[in-house]
Amino acid sequence: MVNTPVQPQLHVESLREQKKRILFVSSEFADLIKVGGLGDVSAALPRAMASRHDMRLLIPGYRQVLESGQQIRIVGEVPGLAALPPCKIGRMDLPDGLIVYVLINPDLFERDGTPYGDSQGRDWPDNHIRFASLGLAAAEIASGTACIRWCPELVHANDWPAAMAPAYMAWRKMSTPTVLTIHNLAYQGLCDVQSCAELGIPPQACSSEAMEFYGKLSFLKAGIAYASHITTVSHTYAQEITTPDFGCGLDGMLRTKVATGQLSGIINGIDESWEPRSDPHLVEGFCAHEWHGKQVNREYVEQTFGLEADDGPLFGVVSRLVQQKGIDLTLCVAEEIVAQGGRLVVIGRGEPDLEAAMAELGKKHPGRIGVHVGFNETDARRIFAGSDFLLMPSRFEPCGLSQMYAQRFGSLPIARRTGGLADTIEDGVTGFLFQEPTKESYQEAVQRAFSVFHRPELLSAMRCKAMNAPLCWQESVAPYDELYQQLIGGEHVITAEPL
Ligand code: ADP
Ligand code: GLC
Repeated sequence: MVNTPVQPQLHVESLREQKKRILFVSSEFADLIKVGGLGDVSAALPRAMASRHDMRLLIPGYRQVLESGQQIRIVGEVPGLAALPPCKIGRMDLPDGLIVYVLINPDLFERDGTPYGDSQGRDWPDNHIRFASLGLAAAEIASGTACIRWCPELVHANDWPAAMAPAYMAWRKMSTPTVLTIHNLAYQGLCDVQSCAELGIPPQACSSEAMEFYGKLSFLKAGIAYASHITTVSHTYAQEITTPDFGCGLDGMLRTKVATGQLSGIINGIDESWEPRSDPHLVEGFCAHEWHGKQVNREYVEQTFGLEADDGPLFGVVSRLVQQKGIDLTLCVAEEIVAQGGRLVVIGRGEPDLEAAMAELGKKHPGRIGVHVGFNETDARRIFAGSDFLLMPSRFEPCGLSQMYAQRFGSLPIARRTGGLADTIEDGVTGFLFQEPTKESYQEAVQRAFSVFHRPELLSAMRCKAMNAPLCWQESVAPYDELYQQLIGGEHVITAEPL
């Protein structure tokens, strides 16, 4: 008998056949534009899943996307519906092979500002039209009517901007399964009930069982009502959102999803670019036990943020400056940090009053607190690398990526025990957790951090543990894979009757 290489070949073939076609729909994509962690996840998760599935993205054609220098070929179009205008679908083939479909309509998406609003932070008044168009485009692609010659076997929508995809698909009585991932339940995409006709929503869907929410229409609620399965980005947050304290008014509906087995938590990971040895953003790389590079990055941060150089601990904040992140609590403990010989560096932007309060704090403590209202990736990474501790006292945190980035770069997070923070930080081992969203509870954790800082061997041991914590996407690939396979294999319940 001859041993031929036929078998491995067959194996490769069968793997290829097993690859499912997945359309991942998101309003952010960190390669081109991001406002927060949704952008990071949308860039990382499809890539992490690419060895198992044919993952393709659908994103809006914002100015930053169209002007990114990537070639875009027009491959299809979406007819309008009610007040939703017709759009074109472009295709970008990124150098690493990732295929990104871009929804193109200059009136909807080509504007200065963020994906959601103008440069003053005001939401665009037509966001309901813009993001309903995104959901509709996903439905058209899935029903084969967008003419792109590729039809997904599952649509994976993310957060409220993509949440109308499962709804439009259900209203068309499509059987293609859908997943909705909730990255943040607090942002729901609300608009007037009068918009029902404009958005082409069947009148029956404007009921409290479907998408009506306290006299408004909620995109996120529509996604929850119609998706085959709902995930959120950590186990703890999956439980929290079924309680009135964290449920943002949707906890009752989410509890029914738990009862039918349609809600689960899958933790986010961090991608391979978060490698302190080789990250090109850093002034100098480093690894566990070899802290020279960390010191060099710290010096950069001190100089750039106008901090005095000394031997005390350096605390960092890399965050959207919004209520969720407990920025007000950091404003309360900052004076104490300075009084004990610590320094604080802050980068981020967000709500105008919190931005102003942070800037004011910096002015009050020159040399001890350095604040940059704004954001740039290089400085953010150098802060993770150069700081000793990262402050993240979030009131709620669906997953949180910054605490994972900090750990990988040897900066120990000081965080509230909530959501993904509770799931990714080991208290006293890879960081510090505190329970209550109060100054006292927070200060106690800061105090423990100071104590560790003054015991260099313990500090070094904790840093090494944090840097080696298994926080990568590989941990999350298997549960997503299993979910996709189950849903495509027909194991899903449709609870909200398609209208
Ligand atoms: P969230 O998504 O709630 O802001 P995460 O911790 O999940 O929190 O993700 C934070 C990500 O967003 C990190 O990559 C961080 O560097 C980045 N980031 C933080 N603040 C800003 C900002 N103002 N603009 C853009 N990105 C930011
Ligand atoms: C949201 C959440 C954050 C999460 C991110 C990515 O922005 O606030 O906790 O890490 O989405 O899932």
